[in-house]
Amino acid sequence: MHIERLPRFPLAQLPTPVERLPRLSRELGGPELLIKRDDQTGLAMGGNKTRKLEFLVGDALGQGADTLVTVGAAQSNHCRQTAAAAAKAGLDCELILNGTKPDLPTGNLLLNHLFGAREHWIERPQRAAKLRELSEQLRARRRKPYVIGVGGSNGVGATGYVVAMIELMEQLRAGGHHVDHIVFGTSSGGTQAGIELGARITGFNGKLHGLSIDKNEPEYLEYEGEVAQIANECAAYIGSELRLSKAEINVVYGYMGEGYAVVGELEREAIRLMARSEGIVLDPVYAGRAFGALMDLIRKGAFKRGETVLFWHTGGAPALFAYARDLL
Ligand SMILES: Cc1ncc(COP(=O)(O)O)c(C=O)c1O
Repeated sequence: MHIERLPRFPLAQLPTPVERLPRLSRELGGPELLIKRDDQTGLAMGGNKTRKLEFLVGDALGQGADTLVTVGAAQSNHCRQTAAAAAKAGLDCELILNGTKPDLPTGNLLLNHLFGAREHWIERPQRAAKLRELSEQLRARRRKPYVIGVGGSNGVGATGYVVAMIELMEQLRAGGHHVDHIVFGTSSGGTQAGIELGARITGFNGKLHGLSIDKNEPEYLEYEGEVAQIANECAAYIGSELRLSKAEINVVYGYMGEGYAVVGELEREAIRLMARSEGIVLDPVYAGRAFGALMDLIRKGAFKRGETVLFWHTGGAPALFAYARDLL
């Protein structure tokens, strides 16, 4: 493995803390809960994309790029963090966002504006064509675009979560913690791919649970294959001999509620409970849904008493401010 020799642009405050959640563990009456605070990665109000972007921006700079181009939902955390990373690295940033520009940009959109990113609003089916067109236009203007796919989820980006898993294992060892389960939200797959690969590299012997944020199993059986493919691209990138098959990837479905980014009682209860018992802010789309799913699994007895479950908080809190009406 040659992770230390890969191009990497420093963006994150690492290591992020691992904390106990004693009041919440008592409240839920199940396993002991720990939290890994990747909402505290530092860049632009934190989140999981900071870790991926360290490697993606490192690669972009190595290739001589001068513009980061990426895509996402209107309240995309990935786009907000890419815009901030571009600002810090002295690069331009072009964002292709789904939907129509609102009159008043709030949450992540306000931050994109402050970071100086240029936005292009499209309907979701036009995304691939717009990405091609924009890249061609930039090249015609002698710019050097570096295109980052949805969520920064490729072999380069996932490297950030291999490093994160190595970091976590060192923290668990130093803190004398034994963790039986690691639980996190999964959507474009890069976070899970890195954690899965990192778990095998470090010899983690507990169970990983990716809680699907935006897919229902019957529609989308191939997601596990996508995660394995990103993990394998990542293994090749970092020089590891390991390869994963889709059968080894554990994704938990059934928590999509009314759809992607639609806040329901599951997310509301999770956000309130975490805030009121531990003073920690979850987000309405990812960490709120993932923690709501974890609460449901605890209540259904999916974990044994005496086990320890680590919830990996992947950030996203700036989106809260665009969802005030759903959370009051
Ligand atoms: C806050 C937050 N958590 C989790 C995820 C899911 O991570 P991934 O897309 O790597 O599966 C995202 C992705 O957009 C996110 O913004």
